[in-house]
Amino acid sequence: MSKVWSNRFDNSLNPFIEEFNASISFDKALILEDIDCSIAHAKMLGKTKIISSIESCKLIEGLQTIKDKYLEGKFSPGAPSEDIHYCIEEKLIDLIGETGKKLHTGRSRNDQVGTDIRLWLRKNIDNIDISLFELQKSLFLVAESNLYTLIPGYTHMQRAQPVSLAHHLLAYIEMFQRDRERLKEVRARVNISPLGSAALAGTKIKIDRFFTAKELGFEKIYKNSIDAVSDRDFCIEFVSSSALIMSHLSRIAEEIILWVTDEFSFAKLTDRCATGSSLMPQKKNPDVPELIRGKTGRVYGHLQALLTIIKGVPLSYNKDFQEDKEPIFDTVRTISSCLNAMTILINEGIEFNVDKLMEAVHNDFSNATDLADYLVSKKVPFREAYQIVGEIVKYCLTKNILFKDLNLQDFQTFHPEFKEDIFENLNPVNVVNSRNSLGGTGFDQVKIELNNWKKKLLI
Ligand code: ARG
Repeated sequence: MSKVWSNRFDNSLNPFIEEFNASISFDKALILEDIDCSIAHAKMLGKTKIISSIESCKLIEGLQTIKDKYLEGKFSPGAPSEDIHYCIEEKLIDLIGETGKKLHTGRSRNDQVGTDIRLWLRKNIDNIDISLFELQKSLFLVAESNLYTLIPGYTHMQRAQPVSLAHHLLAYIEMFQRDRERLKEVRARVNISPLGSAALAGTKIKIDRFFTAKELGFEKIYKNSIDAVSDRDFCIEFVSSSALIMSHLSRIAEEIILWVTDEFSFAKLTDRCATGSSLMPQKKNPDVPELIRGKTGRVYGHLQALLTIIKGVPLSYNKDFQEDKEPIFDTVRTISSCLNAMTILINEGIEFNVDKLMEAVHNDFSNATDLADYLVSKKVPFREAYQIVGEIVKYCLTKNILFKDLNLQDFQTFHPEFKEDIFENLNPVNVVNSRNSLGGTGFDQVKIELNNWKKKLLI
């Protein structure tokens, strides 16, 4: 097999090392970006008269033919080429002959691979943003129809205070919004062109870096050629943002898994997204959220891998960087599939058990704060009110009853300021509705937020 590299080499590579060194098995995913990068470069070589316009056109036509053949399924990149960059160059020379040998004028695989991966990542960030948006919309629709559905709110996994289910779901919409904002910032740092930095030092050939940057839709160009070919910060930032997205997906996945247990019974899985057991006929398993929770580990692993790959690599390009691709590719694959699966799960995979939720919030002590706040409204200092309510809880626990089972006289033995209206104050619907502080779960507050999101999500 003939290699593109120079006549300096007398002997051929050890076949095992040849395979060890190669990246074509995975970087073939960059084929379209590699061709686009080369087309922009070839155009620039023509425009700057580094090569003739006829030669430039030949290069572009050849590259376009390769692209068309690939899209028609008539060409698939692979071994024996070492990587996608050599593969396309070899194919071009094969196709158009001598002129093809001019394509690599004034560039290196180092600026080329940096350009390809940025183009690929930019495209995928845009796709992930759409998936996040879709998930937000799905969550919104469930939230909108559950403004008045109450669900126990927890701290420390202990019943704390009831909340509107809409409020709970809107919390996830906020989290995914931060994810989208983070990705937007990462995208801005991905969208910078390293092309024209050549191997590391720039080139004496009179190239036009702004031209290629504009052709490829880059916002800016790298100012320092060494930084341009050495920078993989954007890869780490992308995987780090992805790790946070996965953590958000994993948290909602965990809640769904809990909600559909017999113990909680807050929701049930529909047949669309549940799986059975091979042994136990009664089982309906939440495999989808479990897989999402499990796949989170992969993305965290990729983040660790990338941080470790980059650490201690001296300037400028080093072959270690070839190891950046698989973690990035797998992060995109994982995150895209998990976002899609979660959206389907929200759309058609779970049904909230509204009666059970209502029953839950009516049968606990999660209105204890309201009992204390009631006394506060009668001018009892909060700390004192808090202790009185603690006494009432203790009393109820010994009797195995709830606040609502007490009568007015019972309440008044704890404090004379308790009046008949205490009972409506303890009703969970009123409990929730009264938390009208900005951003609270009071229905008026949640309505405002639902309206805001409706506009933002274009629903
Ligand atoms: N396959 C290589 C990579 O992914 C392409 C760049 C190779 N550059 C080099 N100087 N060997 O990083």
